[in-house]
Amino acid sequence: MAIAVMCSGGDCAGMNPGVKKFVDYCFDKGEQPYLIFDGLEGLIDGNIKKATHEDVAGIMHEGGTMIRSSRSKRFYEREFRAKAYENLSALGIDRIVVMGGDGSFRALDRFSKEFDTSFVGIPSTIDNDIFGTEYCLGVDTALNVIRRATDEVRDTSASFKRGCVIETMGRDCGYLALVSAITCGAEVCIIPEAEHDLQTLGERLRHEIKNGRRYVVCIAAEGSKLTPELVEWLEKEVGIETRATILGHIQRGGNPTVFDRLMATEFMTFAVDRLIGEEKTNAVVVYRQSNFAFESIDYITSSKYEIKPQLIAMGQKMFR
Ligand code: F6P
Repeated sequence: MAIAVMCSGGDCAGMNPGVKKFVDYCFDKGEQPYLIFDGLEGLIDGNIKKATHEDVAGIMHEGGTMIRSSRSKRFYEREFRAKAYENLSALGIDRIVVMGGDGSFRALDRFSKEFDTSFVGIPSTIDNDIFGTEYCLGVDTALNVIRRATDEVRDTSASFKRGCVIETMGRDCGYLALVSAITCGAEVCIIPEAEHDLQTLGERLRHEIKNGRRYVVCIAAEGSKLTPELVEWLEKEVGIETRATILGHIQRGGNPTVFDRLMATEFMTFAVDRLIGEEKTNAVVVYRQSNFAFESIDYITSSKYEIKPQLIAMGQKMFR
């Protein structure tokens, strides 16, 4: 029986190094690797190919995923899951590694219980919002994209004596915004996980501007949904001309950092070892306190991810 890899949901940097490691490591272990293209949609449509070393040559440094990804509505319907199983069975594939988020893991968990398939999930999302793991693939690269953009926006803000509101992705999670605000030295950070007080912040900023401050950097998580209000607050209450920069999908791209390449390699090795070593498994590889471990899908989806309190504490001066 054979083993396959796929990506599902939002792509992220680190997926390509993961795919490369998957193919190379399967061959090392005497297994025939397969590539599932286009995520769950490709699984339904039978877009599956036997992998060769050539397929994954020269992809280590590339962002995105060469096997592509998708968000699938059809996979919620049993009829299409049955079609996906037929496609796998025809090729003798009974084990899958999926790089994706908890929604994808839930879908695959259901699939593997309905049909006779093993799978291991690798947490992969720039949002870093999966319960049970301290790190998701792609986060370090996204943080570096944000860090570079923020440094550049600060250059122009300081040249013009302006404020800037930089909106980061992250869905409902403020992790990207908070870590970026701490590491870029922002004055203001707005995230859904922490209460903010614009009155106190405004008083402090007005005082600093009076004493020579030339710019204000405000990093806001998309989940806060406050970007236009923050621009208005800086202009009207704080008294500094302000521009908004919504970073958007550039945060999902870029060449994977060294850390994401290494994490992809380690996550994938653990995933493949588990699939080779156990007759039937469905689990997620997690990373905690510098170690890798496995958790059940039920555990991963049992709670909401929370940013660690020490990080929230470090942001206090930027919230209020
Ligand atoms: O989950 C990753 C993510 O990039 C979120 O940060 C963002 O809210 C969402 O996906 C954007 O989704 P789409 O690529 O479908 O616009």
